[in-house]
Amino acid sequence: MIELAFSILAADFTHLADEIRIASDAGGTVCHVDVMDGHFVPNITFGPPVVAAVRGVTDLPLDCHLMIEDPDRYIPAFAAAGANWISVQQEVCKHLHRTLTSIREHGCEPGVVINPATPIETIFEILPIVHHVLVMTVNPGFGGQSFLPFCVEKVRRLAQYRAQHGLNFRIEVDGGIAEDTVGQVVEAGAELLVAGSAIFEPGKTAENVRNFLKAARG
Ligand code: DX5
Ligand code: ZN
Repeated sequence: MIELAFSILAADFTHLADEIRIASDAGGTVCHVDVMDGHFVPNITFGPPVVAAVRGVTDLPLDCHLMIEDPDRYIPAFAAAGANWISVQQEVCKHLHRTLTSIREHGCEPGVVINPATPIETIFEILPIVHHVLVMTVNPGFGGQSFLPFCVEKVRRLAQYRAQHGLNFRIEVDGGIAEDTVGQVVEAGAELLVAGSAIFEPGKTAENVRNFLKAARG
């Protein structure tokens, strides 16, 4: 199922509850929360208190994308704050299977994220235990960056691997996904579509969501 995971990183933080309501009323079905620590990525964003606040204003799945070092240390706090899905970056996990298992033990759906430069082969062994794979289509750290077209082939190969091995994880993409780029990632096999700057815009968010979903499903 094609779904929009709207990234609140691009929302107006002074009206976050309204922003989430507008994006979900217009058709967004997953709320993507970008957690950055200033170490793994050169930017700092939200922590568990913001996740807890968002939990209070929406029933949508909260998709917490942890762009942080040592995610094991923070899984309990994000789970307690109300995260539904927690994804960790392959690049920081020394014991990826252990970390994904811990996410599951804390009652959340585990996801793994790979940066543009990280080959899909690095996650083959753990694919049977993940709920989703997030294929980054920009280098993580900031919203509003340009889509990297070479990542489309990674999505395509991952979808082929999934079919060949009878697996059922979902494929998510994140970074520079907009009306003009979404078609190629959907065609390659992505169905959870993260979008921030293409969605949130004062007075135009609802219209942007509808146009985005039309382009994605069309
Ligand atoms: C980037 C984040 C993204 C970001 C996407 O590091 O992981 O989720 O919010 O923003 P856009 O859609 O503007 O590229
Ligand atoms: Zn993200």
